[in-house]
Amino acid sequence: MSATDQSNAEADIQDLRWERACASADVTPDEPKAVTIDGHEIGLFRTGEGLFAIDNVCTHEYAYLTKGLVEDGVVECPLHEARFCVKTGACLHGPATRPVATFAVREEDGVVLVGIPHA
Ligand code: FES
Repeated sequence: MSATDQSNAEADIQDLRWERACASADVTPDEPKAVTIDGHEIGLFRTGEGLFAIDNVCTHEYAYLTKGLVEDGVVECPLHEARFCVKTGACLHGPATRPVATFAVREEDGVVLVGIPHA
């Protein structure tokens, strides 16, 4: 990442509105958590690498990824088994072809906060 990219990333983070999503304890490696914030359907996933927030709706058809199986940081859609990286949102296996959106996420005092971009 170049210095310009980094400063753009920092500027992007400052453009976020941090919203309370749930208690930290509500998201475990075995139990992802679905939340809706300002109309964004968001899936929260905890892995060995940390806590991640992605769009909870599969890009293939309409299914909630938080209802799928999660293993090694990859979630499998419960409907047709497309797979997505919960860290990057990348689509790793079809039938979906597009990635899911990712959201900035952090934890503070036992609360999960998700960064919602200003409209
Ligand atoms: S709806 Fe997710 S793979 Fe079809």
